[in-house]
Amino acid sequence: MSSVAFTNIKTLVTNDVIHDNGSLGALNGASVVVEDGLIRQISKSVPSGVDRVIDCTGMTLLPGFVDSHSHLIFAGDRSAEFASRSQGQEYTAGGISSTVAATRIASDAQLIGNAHKLLDEALLSGTTTIEIKSGYGLTEKDELRSIKIAGQFTDETTLLAAHVIPAEFTTNPDGYVELVVESIIPKSRAKWIDVFCDEGAFTPEQAETILRAGIAHGMLPRLHANQLSAGKGVELAVALNAASADHLSKSTTQDIELLASSNTVATILPGAEFSTYLEANLGRRFLDAGATVAIATDCNPGSSYTTSMPFCIATAVSLLGFSVEEAIHAATLGGAKALRRTDIGQIALGKKADLVLLSAPSYIHLAYRPGVNLIHSIYKSGSAVTTWKK
Ligand code: NIG
Ligand code: FE
Repeated sequence: MSSVAFTNIKTLVTNDVIHDNGSLGALNGASVVVEDGLIRQISKSVPSGVDRVIDCTGMTLLPGFVDSHSHLIFAGDRSAEFASRSQGQEYTAGGISSTVAATRIASDAQLIGNAHKLLDEALLSGTTTIEIKSGYGLTEKDELRSIKIAGQFTDETTLLAAHVIPAEFTTNPDGYVELVVESIIPKSRAKWIDVFCDEGAFTPEQAETILRAGIAHGMLPRLHANQLSAGKGVELAVALNAASADHLSKSTTQDIELLASSNTVATILPGAEFSTYLEANLGRRFLDAGATVAIATDCNPGSSYTTSMPFCIATAVSLLGFSVEEAIHAATLGGAKALRRTDIGQIALGKKADLVLLSAPSYIHLAYRPGVNLIHSIYKSGSAVTTWKK
């Protein structure tokens, strides 16, 4: 049995609750003891008899960030498309096809190398758990290889073969839905099934067919909904008890109320809001309705090319109406709930010791000092890590 103690922590974020006054559970001067990868003790005193002590004087200890939405298996670059938005070009689902073309001709080694580089970025900005989607292959072979590669890095793999209708099926979109249902879903070993249910992508009817097929093969549903236009995505996600409905930028009041009364987490994607059309105060609308809210990076080469959860926290606070406490809660425990995980996202007894030590006296600095790397060190199951490993 190996043990490590984090001692003299200036601020310890124990974010199982946001108190009525809006503050996070935060202790001053506490210690945390980790044994065999799990949090075993949280105390005011300095523990004795541990194998190793990490002195956290002046620093903040947080749960590792849980990024519950990313698209990391791709090749190519869309910086020109991004730049064109500053000239007034609209973001549409159509840009995805240029990444699909680049991904199909990329070797496995290129896709693995690109994903690993992005995962190292994510880790070094404090992410300790990540969900990864396929969705830039859109053939049986390329979707299955994307899921296989994603599975080398995380257990939270999501089949998003229904990202857009690929060019070769433009005149026969239902033929593509059939391919996804008959050939890709049965062979994919993904944990989650997702659909981009929106204008220029899949209709709610097509999305329902695909999600139900995934469920029939043992996958759990989640959904891209209301990113570009209001539609029936939220209704569908709630009806199927999806773990999460994501983006939600164009949600109606009815959608928000429906999510708030459901088991489905509302996942807000600050990077996508920042890089496409900003829905100011988006988070506030869900928080005020009482929805369970997560924030995630949505890292992808089109709408949100960031791996940084601290950036998403700062953006959520300054532009989307979150308090700092709500943003940190959404980036940790909210993400865990969006993945239906109870072992991560919290510094509490019995949870996995996935931890981030900040070179800052308070968690508020995550939003107060935007764009500054405040990460001192990252721990997975209590061990310091510097490169991504599953
Ligand atoms: O979540 N909305 C759909 N998919 C991605 C964007 C994909 C792309 O533009 O390449 C998203 O924002
Ligand atoms: Fe996405």
